[in-house]
Amino acid sequence: MENKRKLNSIEKIEEMFAEDIDLLQSGKSHTKKALEKIKIKQLLSIPSFLLKKIYKVLPGVLKDIFFWSSVFHKAPYSKFVAKTKYDEFRTLLDIKASALILKSIPSNTLDQVNNTFNSGHYSYQMRDITELDSLINEVISYATPSHAGARPYFKDGKNSAIEDSFSAYYNFSESHCNAITSFLNETLEEDFRYYLSAIAGYKCELKNISYSLGIVYGENSNSEMHQDTFSSIAKGFIYLQNVDLRGAPFEYLEGSYCDASFRSYQTNLGVVNSDIHSSGSTRLRGDKLEEALRRYHLKTFTGHQGLFILANTAGYHRKGAHNSLSPRITLNFEVKRKGIFSKFLINIFALIKFKLIRAI
Ligand SMILES: [Fe+2]
Repeated sequence: MENKRKLNSIEKIEEMFAEDIDLLQSGKSHTKKALEKIKIKQLLSIPSFLLKKIYKVLPGVLKDIFFWSSVFHKAPYSKFVAKTKYDEFRTLLDIKASALILKSIPSNTLDQVNNTFNSGHYSYQMRDITELDSLINEVISYATPSHAGARPYFKDGKNSAIEDSFSAYYNFSESHCNAITSFLNETLEEDFRYYLSAIAGYKCELKNISYSLGIVYGENSNSEMHQDTFSSIAKGFIYLQNVDLRGAPFEYLEGSYCDASFRSYQTNLGVVNSDIHSSGSTRLRGDKLEEALRRYHLKTFTGHQGLFILANTAGYHRKGAHNSLSPRITLNFEVKRKGIFSKFLINIFALIKFKLIRAI
């Protein structure tokens, strides 16, 4: 693998990791965070916050009835519902609603965007990411790290701690998020928004995105092959180091998002068997994992620093094996999640606009 000059910030983090890991996990002053807490953007997210609170306290059966199309109702709650076609039906609807976006893609890029939708991933090698160096340096001094989704437990269906597992996610301040978005919009290819929309399942672009710096080592809850939820979601990662097979490369089962029958079968099985560590973000283990690896091609994303990866994480994915001494350091983001109805409406409007523009 070609050796590019490492970013100073990445060298510094690797040194901190090797010499005093506690430096990466300590709490910071919350000045920046506190100031940003009352921004209008946060006020606008109150309805969805309240909806999630209502969802949490609702009895399971009502969750299945009222939240069937919601992206955060990850799996059927009741065993009765899990024995029906409920999950397969809503997964199929989500695929149909998401695929509608392909009808408003210009013909010169349609084939490639179609392939992206079907495979569930997209990647692009950025040549120079030194502009991110100072932002990375700063975020580890002002942000308080959290585990985010990479929890140091949950493995083989057991809720026990994983040895030598380390994960720290630092959220960038809003001004830094805006700077990263500008950098990406200038650096990525012009048609990028079409690929992003195909992966997210609705017309979107890089705007108002929150980014985090992820430092992970060893195994964690993301090491098992899993889907995040039944409904398409676009997650992005930028490798900030060269990542080879030993450095926990991101792995993805191509085409698995479009297989509603297989995915819903696995989800229902988790619910029926009371496998609580599997039935939410459904995990594949043992025979099921073997079967999935036979069904779909496993794409392993090794690559240079600056490799930009986008994936529909409703398809199966995992953090690959970690056999190097260094942590894996990535810049991460996620596009706002949308339920089936929102996707359908956004894509219909996008289609009407696309047809009107072409007709003029
Ligand atoms: Fe995931």
